Amino acid sequence: MILRRAEAGDCAALAAVEKTRPQAAGWGEAGFAAELQQPCAEIWCACEEEQLVGFVALRAAFSYAEILNVAVLPRCAKRGIAFALLSRAVAELTKRGFWRISLEVAQDNSAALALYNKLGMRLLGRRKNFYGAGRDALVMGKDV
Ligand SMILES: CC(C)(COP(=O)(O)OP(=O)(O)OC[C@H]1O[C@@H](n2cnc3c(N)ncnc32)[C@H](O)[C@@H]1OP(=O)(O)O)[C@@H](O)C(=O)NCCC(=O)NCCS
Repeated sequence: MILRRAEAGDCAALAAVEKTRPQAAGWGEAGFAAELQQPCAEIWCACEEEQLVGFVALRAAFSYAEILNVAVLPRCAKRGIAFALLSRAVAELTKRGFWRISLEVAQDNSAALALYNKLGMRLLGRRKNFYGAGRDALVMGKDV
């Protein structure tokens, strides 16, 4: 598996992975293209045999980073790809200094919650009904 920064030519493949996962942010190809043009965007992708199989998208500015979008193809799930991607993205940030990292996740997204717990993220707060009635967003984060 190769982990690398995503480039403009990856937008269709990023959107194709995202489309397989309703819990992802739903940016679509145009959304990834727009995001990649942001100076604060940090999008990492995982590739196997030249196919893009997963990605993480963060924004990082002024020592603050937010995880905005994460997905791995269902057929490649539970093989450590998201953990490797996020670990790499965080490691690259720490080379540039101190970072406070945060994210929001739906309270019923057990796979993502377990992933973020494994990464050492702790619960910081809650946004009531953020994802609809009875579905709160959990705010998680850590300093690295
Ligand atoms: C969440 C997601 C990105 C995890 O990707 P993944 O590559 O399968 O995750 P990993 O294999 O790196 O797993 C890392 C840890 O996450 C947890 N995890 C991953 N999938 C899980 C599942 N289906 N159920 C429970 N825990 C899970 C485990 O703790 C795992 O560690 P372990 O292997 O030591 O048990 C993937 O399930 C996905 O694309 N989900 C849909 C999109 C989404 O929810 N994005 C996040 C929105 S906030």
